[in-house]
Amino acid sequence: MKYKAVVHGIGHAVPTKVLTNAELEAMVDTSNEWILQRTGISERRISSDTETTSTWAIEAAQKALKQSGITALDLDLIICGTVTPDMFFPATACLVQQAIGAFNAGAFDVGAACAGFIYSLATATAMIESGTFKNVLVIGADTLSKFIDWTDRSTCILFGDGGGAVVLRAETETDRGVIKTVLLSDGRGSHQINIAGGGSRATFGSPQWDTTAKTIYMAGSEVYRFAINAMGDACCRVLELAGLSESDIDLFVPHQANLRIIESAAKRLKLPENKVFINVNKYGNTSGGSIPLALSEAAEQGRLKQGSIVMTVGFGAGLVWGANLIRW
Ligand code: ACO
Repeated sequence: MKYKAVVHGIGHAVPTKVLTNAELEAMVDTSNEWILQRTGISERRISSDTETTSTWAIEAAQKALKQSGITALDLDLIICGTVTPDMFFPATACLVQQAIGAFNAGAFDVGAACAGFIYSLATATAMIESGTFKNVLVIGADTLSKFIDWTDRSTCILFGDGGGAVVLRAETETDRGVIKTVLLSDGRGSHQINIAGGGSRATFGSPQWDTTAKTIYMAGSEVYRFAINAMGDACCRVLELAGLSESDIDLFVPHQANLRIIESAAKRLKLPENKVFINVNKYGNTSGGSIPLALSEAAEQGRLKQGSIVMTVGFGAGLVWGANLIRW
C-alpha cells in the first residue's frame, strides 16, 4: 500500500503584543527606514513573561485539529520543531500532548532552528509513507524574543514569536500530499548563528557561564550570503527530485526572515509576485513558526486551493536548509 501524507488541518497563533519599528528606534540606534529597507519588517509579535513556546504550539495545534476531521485521541504522533523549548526537557511536543489530550500519541521535538518545520514535516512524511503512523500533528513554534540582547541592533530588529501547526493524515490513492523533500546541513557554519550559553558547554554557575553569551549571536552578512544560496539550492533540488519545474509552482511559501532573501529566491525561481507569499512585514522572523504561520495565513486568504503545488523552503542555524514540495 502506498501512503501519502496529506494536510487536513492548519492553524497558527501569535502573541497580541506588537513591537513596532518606531518602538525599536527608542531602544537602539536604528531607524524605521533602515529596518524596512534591509529586512522588509515593520513590526513583530512579542510574548509576555508568562507566554512560552508551548502557548503558541498548543493554540495552533488546537486550530489545526479542529479543521482536520479527527480528534486529539486519533493522533499517533506529535512532532514540534523548536529551538526555544519551554524547558530542556521534557519536549515541548509532550506539553502540547498533555494540553490537547492526545494520549495515544508519541511526541518529540526537532531542533533545526528556522528550518524546524521543514525538518519536522519531512520526518512526519517519511513516517507516514512507511506505514508506521496514520495521523501526525506537525508544529513549528518559537519564542526567540526571549533570547535576544535588546541592546544589539543587529539582531533585536529581526525576530518575533509565534507558531503554526498542520495535521497530516495517511491517504492512499490520492495525488495530494507531500511530494518530495530535501534536508541539508553544514555544521561547519555552526559558529555563524547560535545561542552559546545555557547548554552543557556553559551551564548555569559553571566557570564558562559568565563569559558565554546567553542571547543570539549572528554573523549577519555571512548568514545572509548563505541564505541567498541555500533557498535556491533546496528549491532546485526538490523540483528535480519531483520531476517538476519552477513554472509548476502555484504558491511559494518561504521562511520569512528577510524580504530581500525572499525576493532573491523568487527571482532565481522566476516566480511572479502573485505566486510568492509574504508576511515577514507583520511578524519578523519567527524561526520554526515562520513557515506554518505563513501557510496558515495563505490558507485563510484562500491562496491554497486543493491540488495547488506549494513550495516551502527554509534555512537557519546549524547551518541547515531544506524544502518540502506539497500538493495541497
Ligand atoms: N539599524 C541601523 N544600522 C544597523 C542596524 C540597525 N538595526 N544593524 C546593523 N546596522 C549597521 C551595521 O552596524 C553596519 O554598519 P557599518 O557599515 O558602519 O559597520 C551596517 O548597518 C551594515 O551592516 P550589515 O550587517 O552589513 O547589513 P546587512 O545589509 O547585511 O543587513 C541583516 C543586516 C538584515 C541582519 C542581514 O545581514 C540579514 O538579514 N542576514 C540574515 C539573517 C537571517 O536571516 N538569519 C536567519 C537565521 S536565524 C535562525 O536560524 C534562528
